[in-house]
Amino acid sequence: MNGLQILGTGRALPEHVVTNDDLAKIVDTSDEWIVSRTGIKERRFAREGETLTQFAVEAARQAIARAGIRPEDLGLCLMGTVTSDNATPAQSCLVHQALRLPEDCPAFDLSAGCSGFLYAMETAAALLPRMSRPYALILGGELLSRITNMEDRSTCILFGDGVGAVVVKSTQDAPWYAHLGARGERDILWSGGMGSEERYLHMNGQEVFKFALETVPQAARTLLAKAGMEKEQVDWYVLHQANHRIVESVARRLKVPLSKCYENIERYGNTSAGTIPIALDEMAEQGLLKAGQWIMCLGFGSGMTWGGALFQWQDKEEK
Ligand code: COA
Repeated sequence: MNGLQILGTGRALPEHVVTNDDLAKIVDTSDEWIVSRTGIKERRFAREGETLTQFAVEAARQAIARAGIRPEDLGLCLMGTVTSDNATPAQSCLVHQALRLPEDCPAFDLSAGCSGFLYAMETAAALLPRMSRPYALILGGELLSRITNMEDRSTCILFGDGVGAVVVKSTQDAPWYAHLGARGERDILWSGGMGSEERYLHMNGQEVFKFALETVPQAARTLLAKAGMEKEQVDWYVLHQANHRIVESVARRLKVPLSKCYENIERYGNTSAGTIPIALDEMAEQGLLKAGQWIMCLGFGSGMTWGGALFQWQDKEEK
C-alpha cells in the first residue's frame, strides 16, 4: 500500500500576540493559573479583517516552495478546519482559487475538530493513488478566536489562531501507518457554527481531558502494533497541543520520555487542526527531523474524534 512522504512544511500565524496577563484584564484569571493548568503562556489572535484564507495561503506557499514542486503539480488539496471563512465554498477551495490549482486537483475540507489534520492525511494516503498526480497539499488550522467567547474564562485561555501545511507525495517507498476513530458525541465540545447565535465553543474540560487519556495512548499502541514496532523505536511523538498536562500524562502512560514529545503550546495555545502541522514545520525548521527517524503524530478533538499516524521522515529526492 502507498504511504505518504512529507516533502515540505509551512506555517502562518497572526502577528498579534495575546498574553495571559492580557486575558486577565478581561476575565477573572491569572498567568499563574493558566500556566500551571495548561502550560500556555501566550497565543495569537487574528485581528479584525484578517482571514483564515490568508494564513492558509501563506502556509501553503511555504510548503509548496520547500517541497520543490509547483502548484500545478498538486493532485489533491485538503484542509482540516472547523472555522472556514465561508460555510461554503470549502476553505480548501479558497486556497485552490488563490494558488490557481489545476481543475483536476479536487479540494475539500474535513471537519474532525482537532483531529482534522490527521483525518486529512489519512484521506490523502487513501485517495492520492487514484488522483492525476501524486502530490497533495494538506492544511490544518483555524481562527478559533472567531468562535471563542472572550468572556468565558474556561475556554478563552486555551485557544489560538494559526495554520500549518504540508506537501506530501504518495509513494510505495514511504511506510505509513494510521489509525482514526470517533465516539459520536456532541455535548463535550461543540460550537453552533460561525454565523450562528450559538457560535461560541462550549466545552466540558474535564471530560475532554478524560477522553484524551482514554483514546490517545490506545491509538499509540494500535499504531505500534500495526507497524510491529516498540515505543522506543519512535524518535518523536508529536501530540496535539491542547494542554501540557495532557502531553505529560500521555507520555507517562506510554512510558516515553517527555523529551521525545515536541511542545510549543506555551507560545500558541490550542490551534485545533493547526497544532500538528505547525509543530512539524517548527521541527523541520529547527533541524530536529532527520532522515530515517520515526515520527508518531497523535490528535483528539471535537466529535469526539481521535487520530494517529506513524511514518518515517525521509530526505526528499532532488528534483
Ligand atoms: N482561571 C481561573 N480559574 C478558572 C479558570 C481560569 N481561566 N477556568 C476555570 N477556573 C476555575 C473553575 O471555575 C473551578 O473553580 P471552582 O473550583 O471554584 O468551581 C476551578 O478553576 C477548577 O476548574 P476545573 O475545570 O476543575 O479545572 P481543571 O483543572 O479541569 O482545568 C482545563 C481546566 C480546561 C484547563 C482542563 O480541564 C483541560 O485542559 N481540559 C482539556 C481541554 C481541552 O484540551 N480542550 C480542547 C480539546 S481539543
